[in-house]
Amino acid sequence: MTINSHISLKPYNTFGIESIAKHFTTVDSIEHIKELLQHPIYHNHEHLILGGGSNMLLTKNIDALVIKNNLKGIEIINDSTDNVFVKCAAGEIWHEFVMWCIDKNYGGLENLSLIPGCTGASPMQNIGAYGVEIKDTFYELEAIHTLTGEVKTFSKSDCAFGYRESVFKHQFKNQFIITSVTFKLSKNPTFNIEYGAIKQELDAMNINELNIKAISQAVINIRSSKLPNPKEIGNAGSFFKNPEVYATTYENLKTSFHNLVAYPLENGHYKLAAGWLIEQSGLKGYRIGDAGVHKLQALVLVNYGGATGADIYNLSSHVVNTVKEKFGIALEREVNII
Ligand code: FAD
Ligand code: EPU
Repeated sequence: MTINSHISLKPYNTFGIESIAKHFTTVDSIEHIKELLQHPIYHNHEHLILGGGSNMLLTKNIDALVIKNNLKGIEIINDSTDNVFVKCAAGEIWHEFVMWCIDKNYGGLENLSLIPGCTGASPMQNIGAYGVEIKDTFYELEAIHTLTGEVKTFSKSDCAFGYRESVFKHQFKNQFIITSVTFKLSKNPTFNIEYGAIKQELDAMNINELNIKAISQAVINIRSSKLPNPKEIGNAGSFFKNPEVYATTYENLKTSFHNLVAYPLENGHYKLAAGWLIEQSGLKGYRIGDAGVHKLQALVLVNYGGATGADIYNLSSHVVNTVKEKFGIALEREVNII
């Protein structure tokens, strides 16, 4: 096993932020992880697990052992008339896995096309887009306990999935290395095209017969038109969550702001569009040095090149304070601040 020292994490995070890891290693099997757990460097340091680095902001050098998850493999573990259970190793690139499923006409993940990162991180915040979250097709995951080395299986209810939430962000934070995720996919998919601009995009594509490949392509087209490509401009997607508020808060706001963008939830609360709140606070395209609020999607903070993690974090605090002052709403950061 190779553990390197003093490694730049700039190529390993989509913000393109410079940060030096004290130690860095790559794991590509469960045996490898178990071996690592016995290593003196592991015992003497805290650790940070890294997938694609597309949902983290590195605000300092990492005085820890960074463990890059590189476990590979996609396996069908059960196949019935209607469903197929596919186990995907944590280091597989999420979008490539989605494309693999679409190629085989296994439905359920098509609305989640083009989300950056690795499969192992997908349960961390129950990734979601265009009306679908992974909890909708999640079956189980396997993870290794970082102290005992025990392999544990988590069912859907064990994970306590919520909007951008799971037990792995709270109760079990840093306690497990997720090694694989199994999804229950459909051979006769039902199509989710109600959300956002999917229908219009499908019309524009002249799709006569609906299929998961066309939905995936529609999602890819919409995402590419508004979200900045991290290869061109550093970012981690939505920096904040869309806040959930009580109906009374929504109604009060609506009285003052007639064009407020909000969505009713099943529990009677409302979800506000944080991008709208930020834009209406006058911050769309706002920039402090190389840290900016994206010009097309105000929910995304970007690194124009030379921003530090602290620069982006300070900008995010300015956004939080400005939105709070104008609307009385406290935005919560969605990105993992390290
Ligand atoms: P990382 O950033 O590497 O890690 C995220 C967190 O998970 C860290 O705390 C890390 O320690 C932990 N972690 C990673 N892997 C493991 C593992 N194997 N075991 C245990 N802990 C682990 N997200 C959405 O939900 N919906 C979107 O539509 C969306 N769009 C995006 C668009 C862009 C342009 C970008 C840049 C990001 C977007 N994201 C979106 C956020 C991000 O892509 C997802 O959160 C993704 O799942 C992160 O995967 P990752 O491998 O990069 O995780
Ligand atoms: N809006 C504005 N100004 C902006 C941005 C958005 O007014 O600058 C308003 C618009 O009215 C728009 C509404 O906000 O209709 C919603 O915007 P959009 O459809 O772009 O989605 P979002 O709420 O900003 C969420 C997720 C995304 C996900 C998309 C599509 C969160 C925090 N973000 O963004 O996830 O891809 O919906 O489902 O829930 C991510 O988590 O990183 C991410 C990109």
